[in-house]
Amino acid sequence: MAAKKNVNTFSQAKKSGEKLTMITAYDYSIARLVDQCGVDAVLVGDSLGNVILGQPDTMSVTMEQMIHHTRAVAEGTENAMVVGDMPFLSYQVSVPDAVLNAGRLLKEGRAQAVKLEGGVNVEAQIRAMVNASIPVLAHIGLTPQSINTMGGLKVQGKGEDAERLMRDALAVQDAGAFAVVVECVPVETADALTKALTIPTIGIGAGPNCDGQILVYQDMLALGGEGSFRPKFVKKYADVGETIKSAFGQFVSEVKSGAFPSPEYCFRNSPK
Ligand code: KIV
Repeated sequence: MAAKKNVNTFSQAKKSGEKLTMITAYDYSIARLVDQCGVDAVLVGDSLGNVILGQPDTMSVTMEQMIHHTRAVAEGTENAMVVGDMPFLSYQVSVPDAVLNAGRLLKEGRAQAVKLEGGVNVEAQIRAMVNASIPVLAHIGLTPQSINTMGGLKVQGKGEDAERLMRDALAVQDAGAFAVVVECVPVETADALTKALTIPTIGIGAGPNCDGQILVYQDMLALGGEGSFRPKFVKKYADVGETIKSAFGQFVSEVKSGAFPSPEYCFRNSPK
C-alpha cells in the first residue's frame, strides 16, 4: 500500500514546481470521494460552521465538533493528508492551550496536521506546536475568524497592505509552518508571497501563481441551492445541488404515485 501523503509531499512539490491540490471534507462519504480523486490533502475546515451547521460565520465552531468531523474524514481517507482546522479561541488565548488543542486534533481526530489563522500574532503558537511534533498549515490574508475586527469578509493585502501580509508570511514560515493558505488577496500580492517563501502557498481567491489551490467542496459543486452566495473566486465544477434536488423530487413523486417501490425493490415469502 502506498504511504499516505504528508508534509514531505508539500516540500517536494515546492521544489519540483508541481501544483498542490486541497479540497475540504467534513464526513466519511465525501472524504472517500475526495481521496479517490488524487487530491494531495483534505482540509476539515471550520467552514463546517457555515456549510454543515448553517451558521452565518465560523465563530461558534467548537473543538468537539472539529474532532468529531476530523475523525470521520480520517476514517474515509487512505491516500491524502488530513488537516484539521483549529476553531476560534482554541489557540489564541495561550500557547499551552494551543498545543493541547492541536494535539487533540491529532490524537482524537486522527489528523496529520492542523491549520490555524494568523501571522505574526500566532508565531509563538506555531513554534510550540512544531516543537511538539504537530505540523502546522498557516492561514493568512482573509482570515474568517477575524470577521469582527476586519468589519466583514474583504480582500486583504491590497497596495501597501501587501507588506503586512509579507511580514505574516515570513513569520509563519520562520515559526515552522509547512505551508500557508493565502485567502482572498490580489494576484500580485500572492505572486510576491509565493516567490519570497520556501514553503508552498495554497491559494483560495489568490490567483494562479500560488503553489497550490484549495476550494470548499459545497461551493465548487453548487450544493448551496438556488440563490446561495458563491464567492467570485469559486468555479462551479458541477451542479450537484440541482442533481440532488431532482433525485429527491423524483422519489417524492414516485412514492405519491405508487411507482416506488416497484416489485424489484420488494421482498416476498418465496422467490418467484
Ligand atoms: O475553513 C475552511 O474551509 C478554510 C478554507 C476556506 C481554506 O479555511
